[in-house]
Amino acid sequence: MEIFCKNLPKIELHAHLNGSLSSATLKKLGCLTDSISEYQKLNTLLETTPETLNDCFPVFKIAHNATNTKENVYTATQSVIKDFHDDNVVYLELRTTPRNGDDFDKETYIETVIKAICDYKNCSGKTESMIIKLILCIDRRHDIRTSSEMIDLIIKMKGKYPHVIKGVDLCGNPNEGKFFRGIFEKARENGLKITLHCAEVANSDEVMEMFEFKPDRIGHGTCIHGDFGGNEMLWWKFQDLRIPVECCLTSNVICGTSNGFEGHHIKELIKNKIPFCICTDDKGVFNTDLSCEYFLLSKHFGLDKMDLWKICFESVDLIFDSDEVKRELKKVMMNWMEKNFD
Ligand code: IMP
Ligand code: ZN
Repeated sequence: MEIFCKNLPKIELHAHLNGSLSSATLKKLGCLTDSISEYQKLNTLLETTPETLNDCFPVFKIAHNATNTKENVYTATQSVIKDFHDDNVVYLELRTTPRNGDDFDKETYIETVIKAICDYKNCSGKTESMIIKLILCIDRRHDIRTSSEMIDLIIKMKGKYPHVIKGVDLCGNPNEGKFFRGIFEKARENGLKITLHCAEVANSDEVMEMFEFKPDRIGHGTCIHGDFGGNEMLWWKFQDLRIPVECCLTSNVICGTSNGFEGHHIKELIKNKIPFCICTDDKGVFNTDLSCEYFLLSKHFGLDKMDLWKICFESVDLIFDSDEVKRELKKVMMNWMEKNFD
């Protein structure tokens, strides 16, 4: 099954650039062993509680220190893309929060990530190509003014790179900050798709506000069902809306927002046929990859090879790209199925 999961052509829709750095990449960026261990420290915890999620955010500072020059942002982006490509990801939506660094401002940061994406397409040695798109994030800890300036910049950059920038995300510590609906309405009016980190912790008023906005996808969607920190009203509304969920099993287990793999809320999504995709979130911080996430799904929820293939195939409908790209990806998936199933 592990080999099957590795070979499966996969779709990754929720991967934070600075959470996805491997040990090898961190070393390449000049990180010392202690910093690398600190970046990966959550993997060594014997017990996690919902408070563990708060410990996750300081860890990203290590990655941000390591990617504080244009050159390192470029190297990190290309390395992360290569890791996903090596794991047989055929379509990647990478996400990142624009920020200022030693020799770049937010705009240059976006330009650098896009250059790394575009150059990668031209220089990958692999025969199977990978399509790479970008989602830009708003950090929920930022105030309305900073978020508003950020959305204007994202809209401007989308005008310049419409084939790369496809969406906007709301991320950051869910125990802090808030969801400014107007910011995302503006993004939507300007042709951007919207995904929101939603219900990562219990916060029924905010979750309802997000549902009313009707994002194109949500990240995590943990505390919606009453058995998982949500309530009946939220679950009822969600069943009506059927917003696709980006599920990140290992991330939720390690951050303590899910009570082990078997206790993950994905079982309610499967049972109620709510669309979902399988994602890594921060493969560097949580020491995982997309193949491993598919393997864990099959192991803990009794899914067979065809079930996994179907999840990949159906994830194509959830991407933030054109119908033409969807058709192309479905062809890749069908061809692979014909060759790999009797
Ligand atoms: P970056 O945006 O490429 O710098 O990636 C790291 C950032 O992603 C972090 O600083 C967080 O704001 C965000 N992030 C990563 N994982 C999570 C998560 O599980 N929940 C919310 N935000 C996250
Ligand atoms: Zn995330």
